[in-house]
Amino acid sequence: MKSFFLIGCLFLSSLVVCQKNTHILPSPVVCIEQEDKLYFDSTISVDFSKISPNLIEQLKILGSVFHKLTFKNDTNSLIKFSKLKNVIQDSYKITINKDIRISYSSDQSCFYALQSLMQMIEKEGEDYFIHKTFVSDFPKYQWRGLHLDVSRHFFSVEEVKKFIDLMAIYKFNTFHWHLTDDQGWRVEIKKYPKLTEIGAWRDSTVENHYTSSPRSYKKERYGGFYTQEQIKEIVKYAGEKYITVVPEIEMPGHSRAALSAYPEFSCNGKQQEVPGLWGIFDDILCAKEESILFMQAILDEIVPLFPGEYIHIGGDEAPKTRWKKCQKCQNIIRENKLKDEHELQSYFIQRMDNYLTQKGKKIIGWDEILEGGLSKNAAVMSWRGFDGGLEAAKQEHYVVMSPGSHCYFDHYQGKGKDEPLAIGGFTPLEKVYAFSPIPQGMKTEHAAYVLGAQANLWTEYIPTFDKLMYMAYPRAIALAQVLWCSEKPSFEEFSTVLHNKHFGFLEKQNIPFSKTSLLPILNFNRSEKGLKFWIESKKSSEQFKVQSSLNARKDEFILNSKQAITFERTSGKNFENTILVSSEATGLSSNFVIHNSPSLGVPVKLITQASPSYNSGDLTLVDGQFGSRPWKGHEWLGFDTSYIEIELDLLKKQKIKSLELSFLKDENSWIHLPVKIELEAVNKNKKYTSSETSIKKEKVLITFSHKTQKIKIKIYSLSKIPNGMPGEETQPWTFIDEISIQK
Ligand code: ACM
Ligand code: ZN
Repeated sequence: MKSFFLIGCLFLSSLVVCQKNTHILPSPVVCIEQEDKLYFDSTISVDFSKISPNLIEQLKILGSVFHKLTFKNDTNSLIKFSKLKNVIQDSYKITINKDIRISYSSDQSCFYALQSLMQMIEKEGEDYFIHKTFVSDFPKYQWRGLHLDVSRHFFSVEEVKKFIDLMAIYKFNTFHWHLTDDQGWRVEIKKYPKLTEIGAWRDSTVENHYTSSPRSYKKERYGGFYTQEQIKEIVKYAGEKYITVVPEIEMPGHSRAALSAYPEFSCNGKQQEVPGLWGIFDDILCAKEESILFMQAILDEIVPLFPGEYIHIGGDEAPKTRWKKCQKCQNIIRENKLKDEHELQSYFIQRMDNYLTQKGKKIIGWDEILEGGLSKNAAVMSWRGFDGGLEAAKQEHYVVMSPGSHCYFDHYQGKGKDEPLAIGGFTPLEKVYAFSPIPQGMKTEHAAYVLGAQANLWTEYIPTFDKLMYMAYPRAIALAQVLWCSEKPSFEEFSTVLHNKHFGFLEKQNIPFSKTSLLPILNFNRSEKGLKFWIESKKSSEQFKVQSSLNARKDEFILNSKQAITFERTSGKNFENTILVSSEATGLSSNFVIHNSPSLGVPVKLITQASPSYNSGDLTLVDGQFGSRPWKGHEWLGFDTSYIEIELDLLKKQKIKSLELSFLKDENSWIHLPVKIELEAVNKNKKYTSSETSIKKEKVLITFSHKTQKIKIKIYSLSKIPNGMPGEETQPWTFIDEISIQK
């Protein structure tokens, strides 16, 4: 017994449990790696009779992608395959010793085994080797998806295939293909040829951020579409990589391209061109019978092209403005005893649901399809946070989580000024990695309805394949970890493998992915005297030159990674401090401005909480930095209430001349200026107030002239967006960034 124990210990000591240092991403469930290596040359023998012809083909492709390996048919093979029955779905095992043994449950899982194997192979001179390793692996979630919007910008067949190639490497299995939207219809429909003759082309495209004022347009015809033959080719190509394609045909909203070709299916029949502007448009499909039959005829041609279980019918962001004024829509409401236009949307979706159910398909739609009653067989894609998914699961519907907060890869991934233009939002790599499709507190019986998750690549600001790769990678790899790993390694462990191995792999493939995750991070926090600032670098020894220019005075010093300095708050006059941080090692630099005032870094109490989706923390209001315009997700607090109360504690009683508040105005995104602001100084017995009701600009200066330590700021907004404006009748957003005090 004793000697057995000793042998066991010796054996274990030569093993590395490779969760930490395996190169495989997504990380396998079990991976035990030895120091010993198995060497082989660039031509690998495989018994081709043991696996399907497609797997042989895929193996050859992978060999050329990864290492210029070739495979020859030989019964005396280096790689030995065996198919197992009664094992976990999509599971596989790899044992590398004197040879490579792969056991698998399905062709799909064998494909995953081959992907892992390719990632494990290394090269030493002319020799190839793999550490002697045991891998046992299977996915956590069954829906592991990426979405691609080809309407806002079009991607060629070859580009879509490349997108799919990378998905396969990271073991995604669902490609959600957003084929139609306002700015372009991208799929050939033989019964309605004008959808692509007219609907696939626009005459202009808005330049810069669409909120820029004044707007400018690139006046160039833009568009494209896929023929049904090309669609079949891509679906087959994806299928060979065990990826299901879920097509999305948007309805009843986001349908301006379809209506530009067939305006008779709108409520008012008005002829309009395919828009070159992004946003939410009031003109949507009418809910009349003719429009429903039009969409069903389109689905007749879509269904045979896509062998997967689900068809995505959109359902999001459909303003009810036109339906309210349309006699035909109102007749349907009356005849079907519907309560309102939301129930009319539910009626529209249910007609599609019943139609597709008859054809043996299931529908999936954005979480708005919950409004007015969810149709029986529908699955829900939760994008406006997790709530839609939670509610759908409670109602026993399947759910795919895709919350904007974690899964929108059209958001910024870094705070640096060099990040390319994005729609807004801030979703860095760490945030994606921290995502869980099953939110905390979700009951187990509801969690069973969560199929998985996907990231969405909306392409308003992604005009090229290179930018698509920049926005998608490496965030997609972080999501692959979330969706595959039973238990994710720590973010640091993941980052090490990502940076040391996968960045090299992506570079070799000429993928122009983002290296933002390698950049040093600028951190701010409160300190007793003002604002603490420090830089965190991936390399602990990295040094930074900090140049500060305060009015005419210039200062320069060296800061080590994690070493903190303080910007002391002023006790009197306000001033601006322009800071330039640069690193000699990387040649990168970053600059920012601190607007110093007596409120820099003071305590702030948010009596009204900001929306969790737009809450960068209360320090945002007093960190001396103005939120960027257009909005980038961080540096702002967004409130979706018509009353906001904030308390500022200046730490000691002082005479204040005025207070300045800074807001964001972006009415296209439903962000409005407030209508009234009240300041209140609460001293022991007396209450001083001051207010402003004429708010026309983003910066609002309110004269105060009182002595106080604490100031209550009361902000009143409209409770409904006025009619005729984007988002009419819904609660507008109020976005605040900075508060500064003048003495
Ligand atoms: C969406 O982002 N409108 C689904
Ligand atoms: Zn109508």
